[in-house]
Amino acid sequence: MNFLPMAAFQFLFLLLTLLAVQLSEATRPSLFSSNFDLPGFNGTKWAVLVAGSNYYFNYRHQADVCHAYQILKRGGLKDENIIVFMYDDIANNTWNPRPGVIINSPNGLDVYAGVPKDYTGKDVTAANFYAVLLGNASSLTGGSGKVVASSPFDTIFVYYADHGGPGILGIPLPQVIYVEACESGSIFEGLISEDLNIYVTTASNAVESSWGTYCPNTTTPPPQEYNTCLGDLYSVSWMEDSDVEDLTTETLEEQYLKVKLRTLNNNTSEGSHVMQYGTQRISNETVSVYQGSCPLNATANPLQSFNSKGVVDQREVDLYSMWHTYNSSTGEPQQKEELLNKIKEITTHRTHVDSSINTINVKLLGDQHVLMRGVGKPLVDDWECLKSMVRTFETHCGSLTQYGMKHTRTFANMCNNGVSKDAMDEAAKATCSSYNMGQWDPAAVGYSA
Ligand SMILES: *[C@@H]1O[C@H](CO)[C@@H](O)[C@H](O)[C@H]1NC(C)=O
Ligand SMILES: *[C@@H]1O[C@H](CO)[C@@H](O)[C@H](O)[C@H]1NC(C)=O
Ligand SMILES: *[C@@H]1O[C@H](CO)[C@@H](O)[C@H](O)[C@H]1NC(C)=O
Ligand SMILES: *[C@@H]1O[C@H](CO)[C@@H](O)[C@H](O)[C@H]1NC(C)=O
Ligand SMILES: *[C@@H]1O[C@H](CO)[C@@H](O)[C@H](O)[C@H]1NC(C)=O
Ligand SMILES: *[C@@H]1O[C@H](CO)[C@@H](O)[C@H](O)[C@H]1NC(C)=O
Ligand SMILES: *[C@@H]1O[C@H](CO)[C@@H](O)[C@H](O)[C@H]1NC(C)=O
Ligand SMILES: *[C@@H]1O[C@H](CO)[C@@H](O)[C@H](O)[C@H]1NC(C)=O
Ligand SMILES: *[C@@H]1O[C@H](CO)[C@@H](O)[C@H](O)[C@H]1NC(C)=O
Repeated sequence: MNFLPMAAFQFLFLLLTLLAVQLSEATRPSLFSSNFDLPGFNGTKWAVLVAGSNYYFNYRHQADVCHAYQILKRGGLKDENIIVFMYDDIANNTWNPRPGVIINSPNGLDVYAGVPKDYTGKDVTAANFYAVLLGNASSLTGGSGKVVASSPFDTIFVYYADHGGPGILGIPLPQVIYVEACESGSIFEGLISEDLNIYVTTASNAVESSWGTYCPNTTTPPPQEYNTCLGDLYSVSWMEDSDVEDLTTETLEEQYLKVKLRTLNNNTSEGSHVMQYGTQRISNETVSVYQGSCPLNATANPLQSFNSKGVVDQREVDLYSMWHTYNSSTGEPQQKEELLNKIKEITTHRTHVDSSINTINVKLLGDQHVLMRGVGKPLVDDWECLKSMVRTFETHCGSLTQYGMKHTRTFANMCNNGVSKDAMDEAAKATCSSYNMGQWDPAAVGYSA
């Protein structure tokens, strides 16, 4: 399947250009953002929520997105203005210990009830995501047909939960964007100028992983019967804050600082650096401008107390959960055997991806002193080149998969150093000629770019 994070960068340039034009034409009514707080203000609050992964062992992304929906719904946003992308294969999954229910924290209540099924299954695509954000209903494929039909007085809140990789993310529109994904900072670095009226926070900086949390066999485990992580550290940090704070007084900046602190995870290596990009002025607005608000409920779940550890690297969470399931399984030996085979297949392919990229990189760039992009610079200038490098690699070596997206920076580096598509083609062909890509054939699962 070709999901959202993939196939995304071909749109990047186009979208940023469109964005710049659209926003400069539809200039907001006033530079004084506090107007958006006025009680009589008639703008509509829109939200686009995206879980970009599927499979039970990625439970947490859809749990995050369902929880976000509950916050917005409670905050007064209308279903017609909340557009949800999620594969929707969790609630009824045979692995799910509580059929029809999704939780996002160990003591959490069901967050699945009521979530609109706008774009599910094969309709969770990058193309639909852009169509929704650009309000272009005619270019949708499948789904509910809901798009953001905003006027200049409206606000849009975008929340995106996925694996990510350098430069690979659907780039969304105005105005407040929260992104949970590895190396999510890399997509915005050097690209969102201060005057675009877009404020972004990301779970991690451009070069680090983000973290799954409430994982089995950690210090903050889910209920015993769950073999999978329930949430992501950055995501539960902002949502558990929004659950309990008065959002009509808390500013985006204040929320950012709290989320940043918690996501640092006591400054251990098992934490990440939450980042801010874009229009800093927006961070002075209250959270309620984007997420809505409701009267405080003293009996609501208190903020989950959170100590360090308790997290698993985003890129390892699925395998970690599968191993945990295997280790604690008391089921049929045949089932266990199947799970072990699955784990082995995945592990073998990941090892192949890592080693073949390494070999190709040495072939093409050798030990020569290559030019590395500095912090704060766009990952690559020629996004078409990046796309073509990824596709060429996958044609010969098999899908990068979401795990392999961590290598995007290596492909970007090749482009930045003038490696040609032909050279990549030759190197990938030579390196992977004896590899049987089987289920990871991009012709079957789609290209990652
Ligand atoms: C909001 O709409 C009402 C009724 O349409 C109108 O009377 C009022 O002036 C509007 N408020 C603003 C701030 O535009
Ligand atoms: C899950 O199962 C319930 C009850 O059988 C059904 O109503 C619902 O449509 C199913 N949902 C999905 C996403 O398959
Ligand atoms: C909407 O999408 C269609 C089909 O992709 C395209 O032809 C059209 O130009 C788009 N309209 C806008 C306003 O972007
Ligand atoms: C982490 O380190 C930073 C900088 O050294 C410090 O400002 C911050 O208070 C520390 N956070 C925690 C939770 O220890
Ligand atoms: C936020 O508001 C404060 C107080 O009004 C002001 O001093 C500060 O410059 C503002 N920050 C930004 C980034 O606009
Ligand atoms: C307050 O929260 C509790 C627990 O989440 C819920 O059962 C109750 O209905 C809420 N009360 C109101 C007034 O929203
Ligand atoms: C945070 O780190 C400090 C210093 O390493 C340690 O003393 C403290 O116990 C840690 N706190 C938690 C909650 O893990
Ligand atoms: C599974 O068990 C092995 C061997 O006991 C252990 O090394 C590993 O950490 C366990 N995996 C998980 C995810 O708990
Ligand atoms: C839990 O983790 C410990 C230490 O990492 C490991 O030895 C054990 O096998 C794990 N338990 C399960 C059920 O995976």
